[in-house]
Amino acid sequence: MRFDIITIFPEIFESYFSESLLGKAQKANLIEINVHDLRDYSQNKWGDVDDKPYGGGRGMVMKLEPIYRAVKNIRKKKLQSKVIFFTPRGKKYSQKKAMEYSKTDQLIMICGRYEGVDERVKTDLADESVSIGDYVLIGGEIPAMVVIESVSRLIDGVIGIDNEGFLEERMVKNGMVEYPQYTRPAVFKTDEGEEWKVPEVLLSGHHEKIKKWRNKRGKKIK
Ligand SMILES: C[S@@+](CC[C@H](N)C(=O)[O-])C[C@H]1O[C@@H](n2cnc3c(N)ncnc32)[C@H](O)[C@@H]1O
Repeated sequence: MRFDIITIFPEIFESYFSESLLGKAQKANLIEINVHDLRDYSQNKWGDVDDKPYGGGRGMVMKLEPIYRAVKNIRKKKLQSKVIFFTPRGKKYSQKKAMEYSKTDQLIMICGRYEGVDERVKTDLADESVSIGDYVLIGGEIPAMVVIESVSRLIDGVIGIDNEGFLEERMVKNGMVEYPQYTRPAVFKTDEGEEWKVPEVLLSGHHEKIKKWRNKRGKKIK
Protein backbone atom coordinates (compact mmCIF):
# COMPACT_ATOMS: atom_id res chain seq x y z
CA MET A 1 0.00 0.00 0.00
CA ARG A 2 1.15 3.49 -0.84
CA PHE A 3 0.78 6.63 1.31
CA ASP A 4 1.36 10.11 -0.10
CA ILE A 5 1.53 13.13 2.19
CA ILE A 6 1.21 16.70 0.94
CA THR A 7 2.73 19.14 3.43
CA ILE A 8 4.74 22.35 3.73
CA PHE A 9 6.92 20.68 6.39
CA PRO A 10 8.26 17.47 4.79
CA GLU A 11 11.17 17.16 7.27
CA ILE A 12 8.75 16.49 10.14
CA PHE A 13 8.23 12.93 8.88
CA GLU A 14 11.83 11.87 8.28
CA SER A 15 12.83 10.37 11.62
CA TYR A 16 9.37 9.16 12.60
CA PHE A 17 8.87 7.00 9.53
CA SER A 18 12.42 5.67 9.37
CA GLU A 19 12.22 4.07 12.84
CA SER A 20 10.73 0.86 14.20
CA LEU A 21 8.02 -1.17 12.51
CA LEU A 22 7.16 1.44 9.90
CA GLY A 23 10.81 1.72 8.87
CA LYS A 24 11.05 -2.07 8.56
CA ALA A 25 7.74 -2.29 6.71
CA GLN A 26 9.03 0.15 4.10
CA LYS A 27 12.30 -1.75 3.69
CA ALA A 28 10.29 -4.96 3.20
CA ASN A 29 8.14 -3.16 0.58
CA LEU A 30 4.97 -3.81 2.54
CA ILE A 31 4.19 -0.10 2.55
CA GLU A 32 5.52 2.92 0.66
CA ILE A 33 5.48 6.40 2.21
CA ASN A 34 6.09 9.42 -0.01
CA VAL A 35 6.29 12.92 1.39
CA HIS A 36 5.67 15.78 -1.04
CA ASP A 37 6.63 19.39 -0.43
CA LEU A 38 3.62 21.51 -1.38
CA ARG A 39 5.96 24.40 -2.21
CA ASP A 40 7.18 22.42 -5.24
CA TYR A 41 3.72 23.02 -6.69
CA SER A 42 3.65 26.75 -6.01
CA GLN A 43 2.98 28.98 -9.02
CA ASN A 44 5.67 31.48 -8.18
CA LYS A 45 9.41 31.37 -7.60
CA TRP A 46 9.07 32.20 -3.89
CA GLY A 47 7.13 29.02 -3.24
CA ASP A 48 4.05 30.80 -1.88
CA VAL A 49 1.17 28.48 -1.09
CA ASP A 50 -1.04 30.78 1.00
CA ASP A 51 -3.00 34.02 0.60
CA LYS A 52 -5.27 36.40 2.53
CA PRO A 53 -8.81 35.20 3.25
CA TYR A 54 -11.69 36.51 1.14
CA GLY A 55 -14.01 38.59 3.31
CA GLY A 56 -11.17 39.68 5.58
CA GLY A 57 -10.08 38.26 8.89
CA ARG A 58 -6.83 37.25 10.53
CA GLY A 59 -4.12 34.96 9.25
CA MET A 60 -3.49 33.28 5.94
CA VAL A 61 -5.32 30.53 4.08
CA MET A 62 -3.70 27.77 2.03
CA LYS A 63 -4.44 28.15 -1.65
CA LEU A 64 -6.37 25.66 -3.76
CA GLU A 65 -4.21 25.67 -6.93
CA PRO A 66 -0.96 24.16 -5.59
CA ILE A 67 -2.88 21.47 -3.70
CA TYR A 68 -4.91 20.66 -6.81
CA ARG A 69 -1.75 20.36 -8.90
CA ALA A 70 -0.02 18.21 -6.28
CA VAL A 71 -2.94 15.79 -6.06
CA LYS A 72 -3.18 15.55 -9.87
CA ASN A 73 0.51 14.75 -10.11
CA ILE A 74 0.53 12.23 -7.25
CA ARG A 75 -2.69 10.34 -7.95
CA LYS A 76 -1.95 7.16 -9.88
CA LYS A 77 -4.64 6.20 -12.37
CA LYS A 78 -3.90 2.50 -12.12
CA LEU A 79 -4.29 2.50 -8.34
CA GLN A 80 -7.48 2.60 -6.32
CA SER A 81 -6.78 5.82 -4.49
CA LYS A 82 -8.46 8.04 -1.95
CA VAL A 83 -7.76 11.71 -1.20
CA ILE A 84 -8.09 12.70 2.45
CA PHE A 85 -8.12 16.22 3.77
CA PHE A 86 -7.45 16.82 7.46
CA THR A 87 -9.63 19.29 9.31
CA PRO A 88 -11.13 19.44 12.83
CA ARG A 89 -14.48 19.81 11.01
CA GLY A 90 -14.08 16.44 9.30
CA LYS A 91 -15.62 13.06 10.10
CA LYS A 92 -14.15 11.55 13.28
CA TYR A 93 -11.42 8.99 12.54
CA SER A 94 -11.89 5.46 13.91
CA GLN A 95 -10.54 1.94 13.79
CA LYS A 96 -13.33 1.12 11.33
CA LYS A 97 -12.03 3.85 8.99
CA ALA A 98 -8.49 2.50 9.37
CA MET A 99 -9.76 -0.93 8.27
CA GLU A 100 -11.48 0.63 5.27
CA TYR A 101 -8.39 2.61 4.27
CA SER A 102 -6.17 -0.48 4.59
CA LYS A 103 -8.04 -1.95 1.63
CA THR A 104 -7.17 0.88 -0.76
CA ASP A 105 -3.98 0.98 -2.87
CA GLN A 106 -3.10 4.62 -2.39
CA LEU A 107 -3.97 7.14 0.32
CA ILE A 108 -3.21 10.78 -0.52
CA MET A 109 -3.27 13.02 2.56
CA ILE A 110 -3.47 16.80 2.55
CA CYS A 111 -2.04 18.48 5.67
CA GLY A 112 -3.39 21.94 6.38
CA ARG A 113 -1.57 24.76 8.23
CA TYR A 114 -2.19 28.42 9.07
CA GLU A 115 -5.83 29.53 9.59
CA GLY A 116 -6.94 26.70 7.35
CA VAL A 117 -7.27 25.67 3.73
CA ASP A 118 -9.44 26.98 0.89
CA GLU A 119 -12.76 25.21 1.51
CA ARG A 120 -12.89 23.90 -2.08
CA VAL A 121 -10.22 21.39 -1.10
CA LYS A 122 -12.80 19.90 1.26
CA THR A 123 -15.90 20.29 -0.92
CA ASP A 124 -14.50 19.58 -4.38
CA LEU A 125 -11.04 18.03 -4.36
CA ALA A 126 -10.88 15.57 -1.48
CA ASP A 127 -12.87 12.35 -1.29
CA GLU A 128 -13.15 12.60 2.48
CA SER A 129 -12.36 15.04 5.25
CA VAL A 130 -11.07 13.57 8.47
CA SER A 131 -10.74 14.81 12.03
CA ILE A 132 -8.64 12.88 14.55
CA GLY A 133 -10.52 14.39 17.49
CA ASP A 134 -12.45 17.35 18.88
CA TYR A 135 -9.50 19.66 19.39
CA VAL A 136 -7.56 21.97 17.10
CA LEU A 137 -3.95 21.20 16.20
CA ILE A 138 -1.46 23.49 14.52
CA GLY A 139 -1.24 21.35 11.38
CA GLY A 140 -2.34 18.17 9.63
CA GLU A 141 1.02 16.40 9.98
CA ILE A 142 0.22 14.57 13.23
CA PRO A 143 -3.17 13.43 11.85
CA ALA A 144 -1.28 12.02 8.80
CA MET A 145 1.03 10.08 11.15
CA VAL A 146 -1.99 8.79 13.07
CA VAL A 147 -3.65 7.52 9.90
CA ILE A 148 -0.48 5.98 8.45
CA GLU A 149 0.40 4.18 11.66
CA SER A 150 -3.10 2.87 12.36
CA VAL A 151 -3.59 1.71 8.75
CA SER A 152 -0.11 0.20 8.36
CA ARG A 153 -0.47 -2.12 11.34
CA LEU A 154 -3.48 -3.69 9.61
CA ILE A 155 -1.51 -4.56 6.50
CA ASP A 156 -0.38 -8.17 6.14
CA GLY A 157 3.09 -8.72 7.53
CA VAL A 158 3.60 -5.33 9.20
CA ILE A 159 2.99 -6.49 12.77
CA GLY A 160 4.11 -10.05 12.13
CA ILE A 161 2.54 -13.16 10.69
CA ASP A 162 1.56 -14.63 14.07
CA ASN A 163 -0.24 -11.54 15.23
CA GLU A 164 -1.94 -11.14 11.91
CA GLY A 165 -4.27 -14.14 12.31
CA PHE A 166 -5.14 -12.92 15.78
CA LEU A 167 -5.85 -9.39 14.63
CA GLU A 168 -7.93 -10.52 11.69
CA GLU A 169 -10.12 -12.72 13.81
CA ARG A 170 -10.63 -10.19 16.58
CA MET A 171 -11.05 -7.13 14.47
CA VAL A 172 -13.03 -8.28 11.48
CA LYS A 173 -15.48 -10.35 13.46
CA ASN A 174 -15.83 -8.52 16.76
CA GLY A 175 -14.06 -5.20 16.51
CA MET A 176 -10.70 -5.12 18.24
CA VAL A 177 -10.46 -6.00 21.93
CA GLU A 178 -7.60 -4.28 23.74
CA TYR A 179 -7.01 -5.48 27.30
CA PRO A 180 -4.52 -4.51 30.04
CA GLN A 181 -1.07 -6.09 29.74
CA TYR A 182 1.52 -6.80 32.46
CA THR A 183 5.06 -8.14 32.56
CA ARG A 184 7.63 -8.97 35.28
CA PRO A 185 7.95 -8.33 38.17
CA ALA A 186 4.70 -9.76 39.53
CA VAL A 187 5.05 -7.43 42.52
CA PHE A 188 6.71 -4.03 42.18
CA LYS A 189 7.84 -2.36 45.42
CA THR A 190 7.85 1.43 45.28
CA ASP A 191 10.39 3.58 47.17
CA GLU A 192 7.55 4.41 49.58
CA GLY A 193 6.99 0.71 50.38
CA GLU A 194 3.80 0.23 48.37
CA GLU A 195 3.29 -3.00 46.43
CA TRP A 196 1.86 -2.77 42.94
CA LYS A 197 0.68 -6.23 41.97
CA VAL A 198 -0.16 -8.07 38.75
CA PRO A 199 -3.72 -9.56 38.90
CA GLU A 200 -3.55 -13.11 40.33
CA VAL A 201 -5.45 -14.63 37.44
CA LEU A 202 -2.66 -13.79 34.99
CA LEU A 203 -0.18 -15.73 37.11
CA SER A 204 -2.47 -18.74 37.41
CA GLY A 205 -1.61 -20.38 34.08
CA HIS A 206 -5.34 -21.11 33.70
CA HIS A 207 -5.99 -20.22 30.04
CA GLU A 208 -9.77 -20.24 30.19
CA LYS A 209 -9.84 -17.94 33.25
CA ILE A 210 -7.27 -15.63 31.66
CA LYS A 211 -9.36 -15.43 28.47
CA LYS A 212 -12.48 -14.58 30.50
CA TRP A 213 -10.62 -11.92 32.51
CA ARG A 214 -9.25 -10.35 29.32
CA ASN A 215 -12.67 -10.27 27.69
CA LYS A 216 -14.14 -8.65 30.80
CA ARG A 217 -11.41 -6.06 31.19
CA GLY A 218 -10.96 -5.48 27.47
CA LYS A 219 -12.34 -2.61 25.50
CA LYS A 220 -13.73 -3.02 22.03
CA ILE A 221 -12.12 -0.59 19.62
CA LYS A 222 -14.36 -0.08 16.61
C1 LIG B 1 -5.00 25.68 12.92
S1 LIG B 1 -5.78 24.41 12.03
C2 LIG B 1 -7.01 25.30 11.09
C3 LIG B 1 -8.37 24.80 11.29
C4 LIG B 1 -9.38 25.44 10.34
N1 LIG B 1 -9.91 26.64 10.93
C5 LIG B 1 -10.50 24.46 10.02
O1 LIG B 1 -11.59 24.62 10.49
O2 LIG B 1 -10.22 23.49 9.25
C6 LIG B 1 -4.57 24.04 10.80
C7 LIG B 1 -4.67 22.65 10.21
O3 LIG B 1 -4.43 21.67 11.20
C8 LIG B 1 -5.10 20.47 10.85
N2 LIG B 1 -5.90 20.06 12.02
C9 LIG B 1 -6.08 20.75 13.16
N3 LIG B 1 -6.82 20.07 14.04
C10 LIG B 1 -7.14 18.90 13.45
C11 LIG B 1 -7.90 17.76 13.86
N4 LIG B 1 -8.48 17.69 15.05
N5 LIG B 1 -8.02 16.74 12.98
C12 LIG B 1 -7.45 16.80 11.78
N6 LIG B 1 -6.72 17.84 11.34
C13 LIG B 1 -6.56 18.88 12.16
C14 LIG B 1 -5.94 20.76 9.63
O4 LIG B 1 -5.27 20.24 8.48
C15 LIG B 1 -6.00 22.26 9.60
O5 LIG B 1 -6.14 22.77 8.30
